[in-house]
Amino acid sequence: MYTFSTIALLILFINGCICYSPVEREYEVAALVSNKLYFYGGWGNKSSLGDLFYIDLNQQFNASDPPFQLLAMLEHKAVSSAVAYKDEIIIFGRDEPQILSSNSLIIINETSNYSLNIVGNTDNSTWPSRRDFHTAVIDTIKAEMYIWGGTKGTSNSTASNSTPSDGAMYKFDILSYSWEVYNASTQPICRVQHTATMTPDGNIIMIGGIFNPDIAQIDIYDTKTNQWSQKEANTIGKVYARWAHTATLTTNNQSIIIFGGYSNSSLMADIAVLNLSTYIWTSITPFGEKPRVFPSHHTATLYNDYIIFAFGKIGDKYNATNIVSILDISNDHYKWVRSYYPRVLNSNAPNSYQPSNSINIGIVVGSIVGSIIGVGLLIIISYLIYLNNKLKKEIKKYSETQPYNDETNEVV
Ligand SMILES: *[C@@H]1O[C@H](CO)[C@@H](O)[C@H](O)[C@H]1NC(C)=O
Ligand SMILES: *[C@@H]1O[C@H](CO)[C@@H](O)[C@H](O)[C@H]1NC(C)=O
Ligand SMILES: *[C@@H]1O[C@H](CO)[C@@H](O)[C@H](O)[C@H]1NC(C)=O
Ligand SMILES: *[C@@H]1O[C@H](CO)[C@@H](O)[C@H](O)[C@H]1NC(C)=O
Ligand SMILES: *[C@@H]1O[C@H](CO)[C@@H](O)[C@H](O)[C@H]1NC(C)=O
Ligand SMILES: *[C@@H]1O[C@H](CO)[C@@H](O)[C@H](O)[C@H]1NC(C)=O
Ligand SMILES: *[C@@H]1O[C@H](CO)[C@@H](O)[C@H](O)[C@H]1NC(C)=O
Ligand SMILES: *[C@@H]1O[C@H](CO)[C@@H](O)[C@H](O)[C@H]1NC(C)=O
Ligand SMILES: *[C@@H]1O[C@H](CO)[C@@H](O)[C@H](O)[C@H]1NC(C)=O
Ligand SMILES: *[C@@H]1O[C@H](CO)[C@@H](O)[C@H](O)[C@H]1NC(C)=O
Ligand SMILES: *[C@@H]1O[C@H](CO)[C@@H](O)[C@H](O)[C@H]1NC(C)=O
Repeated sequence: MYTFSTIALLILFINGCICYSPVEREYEVAALVSNKLYFYGGWGNKSSLGDLFYIDLNQQFNASDPPFQLLAMLEHKAVSSAVAYKDEIIIFGRDEPQILSSNSLIIINETSNYSLNIVGNTDNSTWPSRRDFHTAVIDTIKAEMYIWGGTKGTSNSTASNSTPSDGAMYKFDILSYSWEVYNASTQPICRVQHTATMTPDGNIIMIGGIFNPDIAQIDIYDTKTNQWSQKEANTIGKVYARWAHTATLTTNNQSIIIFGGYSNSSLMADIAVLNLSTYIWTSITPFGEKPRVFPSHHTATLYNDYIIFAFGKIGDKYNATNIVSILDISNDHYKWVRSYYPRVLNSNAPNSYQPSNSINIGIVVGSIVGSIIGVGLLIIISYLIYLNNKLKKEIKKYSETQPYNDETNEVV
């Protein structure tokens, strides 16, 4: 019995994963913290979800079979924005079944065993009103999160698609836990289900949205001056209006890649790239096998020149997916890949790679525990074989050496 459970454990360690199968979902959030890609909540299985799980990006995996690990089932469900700051995930928006006039912040700290820190509204004059379908971006150097747009949340927590929130920009200082609000007369009309992308020069680029789906009409918020400006982009080829897409800044900070989304009641099965120096959109067709689905309301996360797209809406109400698609964007050579391989960016030679030699503590601990169990198992098996052989020998002795030759005499 003991040996059996040991073997079962050993098999788990050899496979390296006690994996979780997340239900198909849309509107979930994703955040990257210390080489782990975290996912949280969303809508699926006809209800709001509160599961927190991750993929460890230090390990190789196939997009068809991502090694999700479940961490917790939280009571805060269907949250609607997340950013990562150091070892924390900072979540803002929606949060069912909470019924308040404003959202609380949910801060999850990886180092302190995923402890939750719920920070509630202390000041109605600066705390953003309850909302959903907004965007959150982070300036990691200044430790500031920016929240903008979305719809007004209603008192019973059902945010309505049809009532845009206010157009003010809200800045959360992660070090002092305080908000500042920038309410300018020049600010654009609030967008809903748009994307916001922070560039290293401190601009936030707003693209698309339900009421402003034209991706050529771009609103830009300058966090250095707290001023808005508008830019009209040009397009090459067929580049469509949309909302509920994702936007990802490329590793070289020179372009934004948009994927999927919704327009005119259909899903947008394409990829378009915005050149940030020329403001020209180009429709592109990556190499490799096209993903099985092009969803809306999904997530996109850049990690070492891979963009990992996950989950999202693929049909009518409650028709969502748990499919993961991986786009390799290294060397500006866009390619859909089936497998993810850990690699590290070589800082001396941009756009080239060396094999990852970073050591994952989890794997090390797993290996050590696995080895200990393995050694233990070997000892047990060896002992059993030894006993078996000894028994056989003795039976042999009994049968062959008659009259009985006292073994103990030989040993002494
Ligand atoms: C879906 O929800 C039902 C109850 O509403 C539950 O019994 C079932 O286990 C859920 N399925 C998954 C995959 O979570
Ligand atoms: C990925 O898929 C390939 C081919 O199907 C398979 O040989 C390999 O073992 C898979 N790798 C993992 C980590 O699942
Ligand atoms: C997370 O918790 C750890 C341990 O308590 C702490 O040292 C760290 O500063 C916290 N992270 C942030 C971003 O505050
Ligand atoms: C972390 O949290 C889990 C779940 O609450 C608990 O079982 C575990 O003992 C905790 N570990 C540490 C090191 O605090
Ligand atoms: C904010 O306003 C709401 C109602 O408008 C009120 O219920 C709540 O107590 C106020 N919160 C604070 C911190 O003043
Ligand atoms: C929430 O409010 C909306 C609009 O007033 C209503 O249609 C819906 O039934 C309410 N939901 C719950 C759970 O009370
Ligand atoms: C922004 O300014 C307008 C006009 O002065 C005002 O009506 C609105 O309440 C302000 N919004 C916020 C969030 O302060
Ligand atoms: C892109 O910007 C980030 C800061 O957001 C910076 O750390 C990185 O070095 C930049 N990459 C390149 C290739 O300039
Ligand atoms: C949706 O309709 C608008 C207005 O007719 C048009 O400009 C846009 O290109 C259409 N989008 C798609 C994907 O066909
Ligand atoms: C953006 O356009 C400029 C001017 O045509 C070009 O030099 C640059 O390489 C383009 N950037 C990317 C990332 O394609
Ligand atoms: C979900 O949507 C996909 C794509 O539109 C469709 O093929 C599939 O039949 C739908 N499934 C359900 C259960 O409606």
